[in-house]
Amino acid sequence: MSALVIDSVSKNFGGVQALTDVSFSIAPGERRLIIGPNGAGKTTLFNMLSGAFPVSSGQVTLFGRDITNAPPNLRANLGLARTFQITNLFPNLTVMENLILALQAQHEHAFSMFRLMRKESALFDRAQALLSQWGLSDIAGARAREISYGQQRQVDLILAMAGAPKVLLLDEPTAGLSAAEVVRVVGMIGDLPADMTVLMIEHDMDVAFDIADRIAVLHQGCLIAEGTPDEIRGHPQVTEIYLGAD
Ligand SMILES: Nc1ncnc2c1ncn2[C@@H]1O[C@H](COP(=O)(O)OP(=O)(O)O)[C@@H](O)[C@H]1O
Ligand SMILES: [Mg+2]
Repeated sequence: MSALVIDSVSKNFGGVQALTDVSFSIAPGERRLIIGPNGAGKTTLFNMLSGAFPVSSGQVTLFGRDITNAPPNLRANLGLARTFQITNLFPNLTVMENLILALQAQHEHAFSMFRLMRKESALFDRAQALLSQWGLSDIAGARAREISYGQQRQVDLILAMAGAPKVLLLDEPTAGLSAAEVVRVVGMIGDLPADMTVLMIEHDMDVAFDIADRIAVLHQGCLIAEGTPDEIRGHPQVTEIYLGAD
């Protein structure tokens, strides 16, 4: 069974056709990269998958379950997590507080408020373990706005991974990072559990081809190519778009 099936998904924003009839499937544990020029519809596709906006037409299936019209929190409960193109941290809260809030939200469906209070130390322990696992214990007490942009992006990633999602959507996690930070974030993604399905939008071709099992190429809202890195590398229309864009 596929982790995700995207079946003829279209999205129209009041006249702007952001996605047209996009179809492809992602296998469990796959590292699926989504590439394409600015405005191609990549983030819109993530918004369709996470339920941020309704599809105009088409169907989305998560592990065999139709989630096309499911609200975002149900999708999250079914194991879907995402990061955003722009950092999503509370700037005046510490890294630890941001992490605890995210862990709390991820368990909202399982714990009542009263039980949450008793779970507080468990949440703290879990947050500390995550920061230590990813080598970020040093910044636990720093406010989100005080840490570097690269560190903010790493914390975004940890927040999304914290609930051990089955399917993780990453929207340009390396954008705006230094070369060293890109290496670090690519390493974090490489260290994710092998059975976690990862969909990642990436503008850096070297990073995309390095990580991908398969690649989907969007252009002007349409899926113009889909396949292994080797298949995509040699694809005439993809070459044309990227040569034309550069
Ligand atoms: N909420 C929105 N309202 C109106 N138009 C939107 C909205 N989100 C995206 N679009 C439009 O959809 C197209 C695709 O955008 P987007 O998915 O952000 O592209 P990408 O992530 O590939 O750069 C663009 O023309 C953009 O202006
Ligand atoms: Mg985008």
